[in-house]
Parts: sequence; C-alpha cells; structure tokens
Amino acid sequence: MIVMALPKGRILDESLSFLAGCRMQVPRDIGATRKLQVSSDDGSYRFVLVKPMDLPTYVEYGVADAGICGTDVLREFLPDVHQPLDLQFGRCRMVVAGLSRISARPSARVATRYPRIAEQFFRERGEAVEVIPLSGSVELAPALGLAERIVDLVETGNTLRENGLVIVEEIMQCTARLIINRASFHTKQGEISRLLDSMEKQLL
Ligand code: PRP
Repeated sequence: MIVMALPKGRILDESLSFLAGCRMQVPRDIGATRKLQVSSDDGSYRFVLVKPMDLPTYVEYGVADAGICGTDVLREFLPDVHQPLDLQFGRCRMVVAGLSRISARPSARVATRYPRIAEQFFRERGEAVEVIPLSGSVELAPALGLAERIVDLVETGNTLRENGLVIVEEIMQCTARLIINRASFHTKQGEISRLLDSMEKQLL
C-alpha cells in the first residue's frame, strides 16, 4: 500500500480529478467528508488530507510515501524529497503586490506566508525589507497598514482586485508536483514506478 498525502484547499479538486484520470480508485466523497484518512476501493492506496504547508513534512518524515504539493510550498520549505513530476495543474503565480504601482518604491515591510522566498527575493535585489510572516488573509496587510507590500499567490487575481491591490512584480510561476519520500522510492520501488507510469501517461 502507498500512503499519499493530498493538500486540502485550492488544489484538492484538481488533484482528485488528476488521480481519477490515472485510474486510481479515489473515493468520490473524499473532499466532502471530515475524514482525514481514506483508502482506495482496491486497498492499494491510503490518502491522507493535510494542510498544504504541512504536506512536505509528512512526506519527508516518511509517514506518507508520496504527495501532491505546490512549487510555492516546496521552494519555501526545501524538503529533502524526490520531485519526479511536474503535474501541470494548479497553475498560479507568486507575486509582489501593493496598493498601487507606486508601491514598487523601496519600502520597509512585506507581509507574507512565504518568509523564506520573500527574504531571498529582496536580498538578491539588494533591497532591505522587514518580512512579516502571516498564515493567511495576507491581502489585508496593506489596507490596514501592517505592510506596504505582500508576497502571495495569484490565480484569477480576484483576491487582489477585491482588496484594492495590484501586482508590482512576479517572483515565480507555480504548479503542483508529485513528491516522493526518499526511502519509499527504494523500499516500495514497484508500487512507486507503477504510480509514476500511470501519472506520466496521464500527462501525455
Ligand atoms: C490563495 C492566495 C490568495 C488567493 C489568490 O489563497 O493566498 O489569497 O488564493 O487567488 P485568486 O487570485 O484566484 O483570487 P488560498 O485560497 O489558496 O488559501 P488561503 O485562503 O488559506 O489564503
């Protein structure tokens, strides 16, 4: 049996459709119940639903053999895991945003759920900023005066628009990736290579 960690939240539905396309027997109601562990109908997979930012920890520590994780989270936490496949869904951008394009001027505070990425981005540009870590609703920070700019994900742009923010700069493009625990890659070689085959076929 392979234990696969799935991210609760925005990429769960796309993850479930992708797995169904790979002919995995994912229980239909997995996204609708409050259960956090569900087995596939044929018993070959156990799916665990976790917070996206915690997902690499489950896979790195081997309590899950595999997982689906955004490149945003992988760049932030730098887990020691295999990253064999870009699954090409969950496309979004990580950007710097502010109340207006004038926010492009150097300013002191940047609020974000991605402190490592933000610190690296501004350090490489030689810009001294104070990064303020938050765990959500980051778009509130400029309006409330907590920070002049934010670093966050943008998909449709609706959240930025509805909070009066504009994109100042793009940091990176993000997609979902398959990640695999390093030990499982060897100890469950057969199952993992069947998983990779079915995903690669689905990506063709
Ligand atoms: C992300 C991100 C933005 C929003 C952007 O939050 O942090 O708030 O989506 O999407 P949009 O451009 O389509 O409006 P997400 O919903 O993933 O999680 P959160 O609610 O925990 O911040």
